[in-house]
Amino acid sequence: MRKKIIAGNWKMNMTVSETKELIGKLKDKCNTDKVDVVFIVPSIDVTTAKECLKGTNIRLGTQNFYFEDKGAFTGEISAKMILDAGAEYVIIGHSERRNIFKEDDTMINKKLIKAHESGLKPILCCGESLELRENGTYKKFIEEQIKSAFLNVSDVNAMNTVIAYEPIWAIGTGKTATSDEAEEVCKFIRDIIGKLYNDKVKDEIRIQYGGSVNSKNANELFSKEDIDGGLVGGASLKEEFIDIVNY
Ligand code: PGA
Repeated sequence: MRKKIIAGNWKMNMTVSETKELIGKLKDKCNTDKVDVVFIVPSIDVTTAKECLKGTNIRLGTQNFYFEDKGAFTGEISAKMILDAGAEYVIIGHSERRNIFKEDDTMINKKLIKAHESGLKPILCCGESLELRENGTYKKFIEEQIKSAFLNVSDVNAMNTVIAYEPIWAIGTGKTATSDEAEEVCKFIRDIIGKLYNDKVKDEIRIQYGGSVNSKNANELFSKEDIDGGLVGGASLKEEFIDIVNY
């Protein structure tokens, strides 16, 4: 049985003081061991968030890092820095990083390898645009994203990767994929992993759905066989996140 993982992607929201306030509101009711709960905060908020979450099961993550260990990479942050500050998870390949910051498949693959090497738990995002959904080529596109991200990633590391299927047309738009649409692609991704690796990895890897998850649709989405939780943007910044965690 795969344990569900529900992660809040705060994106570029919440100052240090706002972080204290939000965690104060969320932490007691999000503190469960039925599912893995992760707050994915801006890097600058990690130390504060860590302090605020003491004594709870809630884990921390960041939204980005760079794959080099150290050096002349102005503006970047390393895996070691994130870990030392108290985060365990990191998002890799979010569509906003791919599209706005032009991260390509090669960089995403390097980040996935580095995350595992460093002991970070990666949440690898994939997902198609509206155009690809409408012209019917979305599965082929997602298959390419998965294959290139997992290039030279070992079985064990693949198994310990969380994949988040996030159709771009559903992110921040209020337009959720139906639970059947989400399940179709999550199952498809699981089958690709089965072909790249083996049945054990296929059965154990956790695949989230993300894109306008809210307290009303969480239950139906998370009840699907191949959907192992969610990556939640907008609704993770509100008390609504409590209802999603306790779906
Ligand atoms: P959303 O964002 O829930 O606001 O659609 C999801 C995400 O981008 O991870």
